[in-house]
Amino acid sequence: MILKTSSGILLCILCSLFGVTYSRLAPDYIRPCNDTNSECLIKATQDAIPEFVKGLPHLGVPPLDPFTIDKLSIPLSGLKVTFYQGKVSGFRKCIVDNVISELEKRHFVLEFHCNLTIKGGYDAVGKVLLFPINGEGDAKIKLTNLKMKLDINTKYIKDDKGVNHFAIKSYKYTFDYGDKVTFDLQNLFKESKELSNTVLSFLNENWRTVSEEFGKPIVDYAVELALKTIEKFFLVVPYEELINVPIPT
Ligand SMILES: *[C@@H]1O[C@H](CO)[C@@H](O)[C@H](O)[C@H]1NC(C)=O
Ligand SMILES: *[C@@H]1O[C@H](CO)[C@@H](O)[C@H](O)[C@H]1NC(C)=O
Repeated sequence: MILKTSSGILLCILCSLFGVTYSRLAPDYIRPCNDTNSECLIKATQDAIPEFVKGLPHLGVPPLDPFTIDKLSIPLSGLKVTFYQGKVSGFRKCIVDNVISELEKRHFVLEFHCNLTIKGGYDAVGKVLLFPINGEGDAKIKLTNLKMKLDINTKYIKDDKGVNHFAIKSYKYTFDYGDKVTFDLQNLFKESKELSNTVLSFLNENWRTVSEEFGKPIVDYAVELALKTIEKFFLVVPYEELINVPIPT
């Protein structure tokens, strides 16, 4: 053990003597493409996702699968829904449909679809369908084949050591709730189990309309959080370790 350690140190002293102290900051699962053809970018992104979503805790990049929504309030007309301690899982299995990187135009597009599950607690106070709602309990929402297209304007920045990084200048996104959204909200009406079940069935039968009404704030929140994480990752890993194409000037 001692021998191993000291030879490791020796090896390191040797490498620094020979000037090979350079070490990649990018984790091994990042395999930079040598050009911007979509085929390579799609594969590289797909290969990186299962590991990327675990985060890089030692570099301050938090995990994305699961990721936590501590508290999120959705104000609707006549109804206020709040989620607590939501855990969103499933990103590790997202399927990448397209990646476009236009380095000179500073433009990046990522299209993917995933099955996601959101689990947590909720409360809801107000009115639905003229019924006074006063619910509180466990919530579970499943999304099947949620489709998303992220459209990002990038920029290139230098950190205080003069190292180049990608950064996000602005973004927009479009999405589709996909094939099905399933709601499981316990105790919508504290007073009546029967009414709770009736309204829950109604929500599930009308899942698309309901998602469109309720879902946007959750998706906005998730996208913003995901992009903040990606941005942190960009600030840690140099541009040159993400793609083998010189930075456009
Ligand atoms: C990029 O080129 C290097 C050197 O030729 C090669 O080892 C590497 O596999 C290439 N990367 C990809 C993703 O094709
Ligand atoms: C999501 O689940 C459905 C049904 O279980 C399955 O057919 C589909 O391939 C899954 N999609 C992804 C992206 O894993």
